[in-house]
Amino acid sequence: MRFKDKVAIVTGAGQGIGEHYARALAEEGAKVVVAEINEAQGEAVAKAIRDAGGKAIFVRTDVASEDATKAAVAATVKEFGDVDYLLNNAAIFFGMERHTWLNVPMDYYNRFMAVNMNGALIMTRAVYPSMKKKGGGAILNQSSTAAYTSKNYYGLAKLAVNGITLGLAQELGVDNIRVNAIAPGPTDTSAIQTSVPPEAVKRIVDSLPLKRLGQTQDMVNTALFLLSDEASWVTGQTWCVDGGMILKP
Ligand SMILES: NC(=O)c1ccc[n+]([C@@H]2O[C@H](COP(=O)([O-])OP(=O)(O)OC[C@H]3O[C@@H](n4cnc5c(N)ncnc54)[C@H](O)[C@@H]3O)[C@@H](O)[C@H]2O)c1
Repeated sequence: MRFKDKVAIVTGAGQGIGEHYARALAEEGAKVVVAEINEAQGEAVAKAIRDAGGKAIFVRTDVASEDATKAAVAATVKEFGDVDYLLNNAAIFFGMERHTWLNVPMDYYNRFMAVNMNGALIMTRAVYPSMKKKGGGAILNQSSTAAYTSKNYYGLAKLAVNGITLGLAQELGVDNIRVNAIAPGPTDTSAIQTSVPPEAVKRIVDSLPLKRLGQTQDMVNTALFLLSDEASWVTGQTWCVDGGMILKP
């Protein structure tokens, strides 16, 4: 119960890795807000947490919208009090369109970057006053090994998330707010199962030092450590959780 009675907002918690972050935090005693754009899935996850004896509410949130993120924080404070933890996990990933740089429709590109790059910043700005009032907290941004390997806009957005993590860590340390990121390698969620052909997944797994696909639990273990007081002197870091895919000095 490392997070007993702490207040945590998890964006994009309606499925996949975010859902597992939300469930795990609730299992360790946190009051969790499922901040998700998909109403049916967000409601279902919050209900499943409550049915299992945890505390959770769903708040429909578009992380690209300043108004929606501010409203989500207001709903959180009203229900549970000021915020201790923010997990900026939401992204357009499941079902994302794959275009080349020359052909990506600008409307699609702008929306994609608004969610995948700016979303973490917009949500953090909305949460900041509450977290500061609480006396500090921890923020975890969801990057990807694609930040280092991908040449398209998905990779660019994740590279930007790493940069935002560095800048916010420097800016918010004075308020006792730590900011880190996780860069998962390929992880077994419905997004991977439906968008990457099994042969391609096998090729990636075979190339890893640790030859298996990542599991949501791998991400949960690292996320909970980085949020917890055990990591109280860790900030501004992007942790690759990837079976050794990215080996940097
Ligand atoms: N699965 C992987 O292999 C993998 C690897 C590296 C990084 N990631 C990253 O981890 C995160 C979760 O991955 P996943 O596999 O669970 O993806 P996913 O697509 O299954 O889940 C993303 C969730 O975010 C929600 N969302 C999308 N746009 C939103 C918005 N504007 N506001 C609020 N919520 C929104 C979606 O509805 C969905 O529930 C993403 O940031 C993804 O880029 C995943």
